[in-house]
Amino acid sequence: MADAFALAETLAKFDQSHLLTGVADLAQAEREAYLARLAAIDWEEQRHHSTPPPMGAVGPSRVVDFAERARREAEFTRVGEAAYRAGAVAVLMVAGGQGTRLGSSAPKGCFALAPHSGKSIYQLQAEKVLSLSRRIGRAVPFLVMTSPMTDAETREFFAAHNDFGLAPGQARFFSQGTVPSLDQQGRALLARPGKLLENPDGHGGCFTALVKSGNLAALRQQGVRQIVYIQVDNILAPVDDALLVGLAEVESADAITKVLEKAHPDEKVGHLVKVAAADGAGSHDVIIEYTEVTPEQTRSKSATGELNYRWGSPAMHCWSVAFLGRLTDQGYRIPLHRTAKPLKAWSPGTPPGTVSEIKGWKNERFIFDLIPEAKVSLGLAIDRDAEFAPVKNKDGTDSPASANDLAHRQYVAWLTAAGVKVDLPANARIEISPLFAATKAQFLARWDHRISAVSGDYYLEG
Ligand code: UTP
Repeated sequence: MADAFALAETLAKFDQSHLLTGVADLAQAEREAYLARLAAIDWEEQRHHSTPPPMGAVGPSRVVDFAERARREAEFTRVGEAAYRAGAVAVLMVAGGQGTRLGSSAPKGCFALAPHSGKSIYQLQAEKVLSLSRRIGRAVPFLVMTSPMTDAETREFFAAHNDFGLAPGQARFFSQGTVPSLDQQGRALLARPGKLLENPDGHGGCFTALVKSGNLAALRQQGVRQIVYIQVDNILAPVDDALLVGLAEVESADAITKVLEKAHPDEKVGHLVKVAAADGAGSHDVIIEYTEVTPEQTRSKSATGELNYRWGSPAMHCWSVAFLGRLTDQGYRIPLHRTAKPLKAWSPGTPPGTVSEIKGWKNERFIFDLIPEAKVSLGLAIDRDAEFAPVKNKDGTDSPASANDLAHRQYVAWLTAAGVKVDLPANARIEISPLFAATKAQFLARWDHRISAVSGDYYLEG
């Protein structure tokens, strides 16, 4: 039971005393749970939020571009492949969040997406890990971060589908934390009497959650050195990526960020840039969200004429386990960022069960805030068409339809590269199961010339 006096003092110090109004009216169990939650929150932390660095100190990051990739591909791939085969690589997929824009009440991963098989996003992602595991002959650890809102449903969904064929225990679920949602004055809101309004603490919550759940320690103990990080809603994010892992190993990188050359300076993505330290001592990489920079900044150029904000981040990384371990040992915590949001909160004085829209702040941690902590951080240029098909919205851009379209185009490219004549009506869709091939290289290695031409819908399973 929380010390009531100490808690009241803390809340007063951080202007949160309103949270204690009406507490005496709550049922005992509810009151105890509520007070324990209030006592567990770091209220000092809620007051701070990250701000972007000042203009002028920003320059381009070191990125392995296509020319360097081509030159060093054989070396990276050899080293990365050896790491996979030695059991030194795990896959981490973040699948918390609320998927508000997609508008489904179930976790995003449960969304039935694939055009012919109807496979869910979870199945497509899990099958990529399975396909990789089969290829190298060992079960690659598959860490799935959920949120308190998606955890039970995600576990049940995997269990109901027999973990999509993964080995028992290969998928390891762990939940991220939550943080209070705040009003415009920074005061915590309530969902109902005796219950804070909270939101999942962002994809960056996976760092703390990896540690708290014991998964980071388990990975270290198992000899895993590299974590390939993907987000559930990018259906083309590769997990079998020897080049990425090899680059991390060869360069002893703490963090690698895959980057896309922006289509135009104003494209709405996070940017990988290098920022000089305020005291002039050295510099570090950082990702700056498009919301945090002005149009003038995104168009600014370095002394050599390169766009400072040239490289966009599609949220795919490789993290070194040693790096995460070092940060853990230092007690590092990813800071909170604030986003202005309309929130649905209960207001004291109104009947329980009613909520109204209140303008406030959602606090979140961003995984890429780990990057400035890295001693060695690199960007790796990737082919947008091959690796990026996000599912964010119900319709239009970044929707299930557009993601399917991008996947279809990739499969057409694979078939064409294998010498198949592809001549399709506009509405025809190609689907290739990750169990047949999850990458172009796998496809070309496996393709048995079973057809020489395709002129309509085509589906290829394992
Ligand atoms: P988004 O930023 O697109 O958020 O997440 P979201 O919650 O999925 O969707 P909206 O904004 O409510 O519509 C990008 C990725 O980060 C994960 C999501 O699961 C997705 O893979 N994520 C996001 C988390 O794991 N936890 C979070 O708290 C937020």
